[in-house]
Amino acid sequence: MPVNLRHRDFLKELDFTRRELEYLLDLSRDLKRAKYTGNERQRMKGKNVALIFEKTSTRTRCAFEVGAADQGASSTYLDPSGSQLGHKESIADTAAVLAGFYDGIEYRGSAQSNVEELAAYSNVPVWNGLTDEWHPTQMLADFLTMHEHARGKPIQNITYTYMGDARSNMGNSELVMGAIMGADVRICSPKALWPSEEVQEAARERAEESGARIMLTEDPDEALPGSDFVMTDVWVSMGEPAEVWNERIKLLKPYQINRAALEKTGVPHVRFMHCLPAFHDTNTKVGQKIAAETGMTDGLEVTDEVFRSEANIAFLQAENRLHTIKAIMVATIGD
Ligand code: CP
Ligand code: NVA
Repeated sequence: MPVNLRHRDFLKELDFTRRELEYLLDLSRDLKRAKYTGNERQRMKGKNVALIFEKTSTRTRCAFEVGAADQGASSTYLDPSGSQLGHKESIADTAAVLAGFYDGIEYRGSAQSNVEELAAYSNVPVWNGLTDEWHPTQMLADFLTMHEHARGKPIQNITYTYMGDARSNMGNSELVMGAIMGADVRICSPKALWPSEEVQEAARERAEESGARIMLTEDPDEALPGSDFVMTDVWVSMGEPAEVWNERIKLLKPYQINRAALEKTGVPHVRFMHCLPAFHDTNTKVGQKIAAETGMTDGLEVTDEVFRSEANIAFLQAENRLHTIKAIMVATIGD
């Protein structure tokens, strides 16, 4: 049976088979090549998409806006203050209204239940642009990027280690996506910050089907050897109170990605990945404040040295947000 994702929501990785995700990755590659060679065929002419952002964004918003424009569609950006959602109008009512105007709706917010509810009450596809639990559009970009830098290895033969806050959207998604796709996935963080038992169980189930190898460990010496890719995320996510910084730094300092961590992989071509934004220097307000309070002037989750090194492919990963998000829109609402 050919893969057909028309009219499907894109809410979390677990809703999809490996074959469907591979189809989206193939389509992303085709769209990227078409854009590079000036041969892009517009498959969303006359379509309109709504982009609801209850949390801030640079990459995800731009990827949806540029992706829609490249494909001939219009987009409307709604920020938390720009709509009645949640304040004066329920998610269910907003979904019913927007479905009358738009062909697809992107939503970024806190609880996964919000995006699930939006999808349940709207009869057009809803795409999850990040919730506290999952970041599925990011996963397509990460896997496209790993494929491009895997030196010919199929995804099933690559090994990657995610270090840092692993019970947040990025940790959950990296674990589960790797499990679905059949990769060698290592989650390395203090146990207190591991994905929940429920997420671990879902990953184990999918790993059994795919042949993925899953490791959760507190020990970087166990996780890092043999890793083709080492990745991390901010130590405090959007929506978390500033007070958690001190405790988080204490817990995660041993999990910083620095030169020694990359050397522990023993892989000469090891690559560093980060969904971004990253705290790697003091050129941000938060980076500056934390450096002043803790003396960590050379970055937090990643050192400036690693960030500026040849190993860093995070900006290529960021560009792939465009091609992969475009693929999701084309596959679900394109002609
Ligand atoms: N990686 C990512 O989702 O970036 P934004 O928060 O800028 O969208
Ligand atoms: N875990 C981060 C990801 C940002 C793209 C956050 O939720 O803030």
